[in-house]
Amino acid sequence: MKNFYVTTPIYYVNDAPHIGHSYTTVLADILTRFHKIIGYQTFFLTGTDEHGQKVQRAAAKRNVTPQEHVDEYYHRFEDLWKKMNIQNDFFIRTTMPEHKAYVQECLQKLWDKGEIYSKEYEGWYSVGEERFFSEDELDENKCDPISHRPVEWLKEKNYFFKMGSYQQKLIDFLESHKDWIVPDYRWNEIRGFLRQPLNDLCISRPKIRLSWGIPLPFDPDYVTYVWFDALLNYVSASTAFHKTYADGTPIWPASYHLIGKDILTTHSVYWPTMLMALDIPLPQHILAHGWWLVNGGEKMSKSAGNVVNPMDYMEKYGIDAFRYFLAREMVVGQDANFTHEGFVRRINSDLANDLGNVLNRVHRLVLTNFGGVLPTPNALDDAANEVITIANRVRTNVMEWVPQVKLSQVVEEIMTLVRSVNRYLEIKAPWKLAKDESKKDELATVLYISAEAVRLSLSMLWPVIPGKSEEGLAMIGSKFTDQNDLVWGILKGGEKFGEGKPLFPRIEEEVKKAEPQQAKPKQNKPLMAADVPAAMDLRVAQIKEVADHPDASSLYVLKVDAGEGELRTICSGLKSSYQANELQDRKILLFANLKPSALRGIMSQGMLFAGDLEPETHKCRLVSVPEDAKPGDRALFKGVAPSEPRELKVKDFEKIALTAKGGAVFCDTLALEVNGKPVTCDVADGAGIH
Ligand code: MSP
Repeated sequence: MKNFYVTTPIYYVNDAPHIGHSYTTVLADILTRFHKIIGYQTFFLTGTDEHGQKVQRAAAKRNVTPQEHVDEYYHRFEDLWKKMNIQNDFFIRTTMPEHKAYVQECLQKLWDKGEIYSKEYEGWYSVGEERFFSEDELDENKCDPISHRPVEWLKEKNYFFKMGSYQQKLIDFLESHKDWIVPDYRWNEIRGFLRQPLNDLCISRPKIRLSWGIPLPFDPDYVTYVWFDALLNYVSASTAFHKTYADGTPIWPASYHLIGKDILTTHSVYWPTMLMALDIPLPQHILAHGWWLVNGGEKMSKSAGNVVNPMDYMEKYGIDAFRYFLAREMVVGQDANFTHEGFVRRINSDLANDLGNVLNRVHRLVLTNFGGVLPTPNALDDAANEVITIANRVRTNVMEWVPQVKLSQVVEEIMTLVRSVNRYLEIKAPWKLAKDESKKDELATVLYISAEAVRLSLSMLWPVIPGKSEEGLAMIGSKFTDQNDLVWGILKGGEKFGEGKPLFPRIEEEVKKAEPQQAKPKQNKPLMAADVPAAMDLRVAQIKEVADHPDASSLYVLKVDAGEGELRTICSGLKSSYQANELQDRKILLFANLKPSALRGIMSQGMLFAGDLEPETHKCRLVSVPEDAKPGDRALFKGVAPSEPRELKVKDFEKIALTAKGGAVFCDTLALEVNGKPVTCDVADGAGIH
């Protein structure tokens, strides 16, 4: 049997859980459930990081012992995960005796092997910040640069792990495992980091400064510091507590460590070198996801008062709506923007309108026309066969994309099946068929096909919205048991439908008008050419309306859907190359963070890309995106991490050149891709893309 062991970071016990923590945990939960239903044996680990100065201080402030403090505080995470229907197999706490013993065992092993040594360290020490600063880091008054309090020259012995001696081994490993860090641009980041000499890692703090930690077995005056304790949780949990899966295979190594991009270096440099020194196999993948930003691009912080509390959303709109939103809205790897309006829009359009609607229609029609018992199908027409074809395609893609952790794409793909049923119902209009006794057979077929497609959609959505999926399946007289149900044709006809109720009631709230999803532009320094590819926000969009520009004969005014809820207006000089009907519904590539500008009186909110066909006549060919790309999907240059959101000007774009090579679009040697597939343009090699 294939195995899947997934971990989340262990969260600092002192922090109040927020949307960022819940995203990683929900992602792990959904991936585990998906792997379960496609036939893997799974192990899912989360927990809390409970040692350190902050805990020691917080406990002192509350007049309790650190242990009492963490015993009380860790519940905030454990309780939230229970509320969110998270099915972790184990919750590790770094204060558990088994974990502490395991960490000490590892430290002793490395000490005995000569992988840890002690060294006197001298430097400017800030009591307030509890850390050393180099001479250059001090402020103009030679004080600590953060609190601006005086620093003192301190000499201190500490213990160091010989991390630097593993630099070449780690580089060799990365070079032979290019998919070890996902997405690929994070691999590049770490590979780049390793071009500088790798220092040894300080792993201790003297007990007089920090007592709340795991004592070093070879020097009881010291405790081990943060990462050496925390990272080992992934192995201690699968060694000291749960050793094997049901069939006896060992749980370690992890398939995926899910982390936020903030802790990439610790997981991709400290952790593998520690494991190499300990002769423990490395995890199979590190997956770094992006950040949840708020209000169009701000970081969440307590001081800014903009922290999104998952509890508020779940209590008001339900657990599954919140889980769905997290899974659908963030493209794994990239930052996502949380707005209340975006949440309401997404839930109303996908869950209330699309999914809720189709389920209610089928349920009501079977109830009123067949006494609540699903009829058997008769002859299938093209429309019915198309639904079955889509169902089979969706199923195949889901099976392929789940192990690649393309979660938002998986969810969107399942929703295409849901939408195809709504379309099918519109075409067949069963409410009209029901009025004509001679059409009863056709009506039976329409309802059977729709019910079966809804069943399959709900079954595939089970990992994302487990509770609502089960309720929805019960409504159509079905339930989900295992992967054998993930095929077409499980409903046979004759199933007795359950009671009907709205699965996802529409959120009837006044919400502010849609705002573009990309983050608020920031005032930044001018961009260097090398930074432009990372700063361009390129999105797939679909042309929804084409009109002539009232004042410019060469321009069309297009309304395009870039997955933002509201259409954008783009003025584009495509008239010499395309008829209006050739553009309708066509998918294009949109430059979404270009400063809007007025073209003969009409504001153009971005630009679309086309390649030069005949520069003399301004004839061009639109750039094409992969067939399965959806409005809103982001195009990225291969291996380049998108940078912080900002608005660009045309003159920024002019610092680089996009050209066609072998039918694909490149910026120098960087290929442009959507979901790992090339963006193409059918023009000659070397032709410019503008
Ligand atoms: N305790 C360490 C991790 C040790 S793992 C061996 C730690 N804890 S943390 O509480 O600060 O949370 C870390 C994780 O929370 C991040 O890596 C990320 O997974 C998640 N997030 C915290 N804020 C986030 C956002 N705003 N957005 C998305 N996730 C972020 O670091």
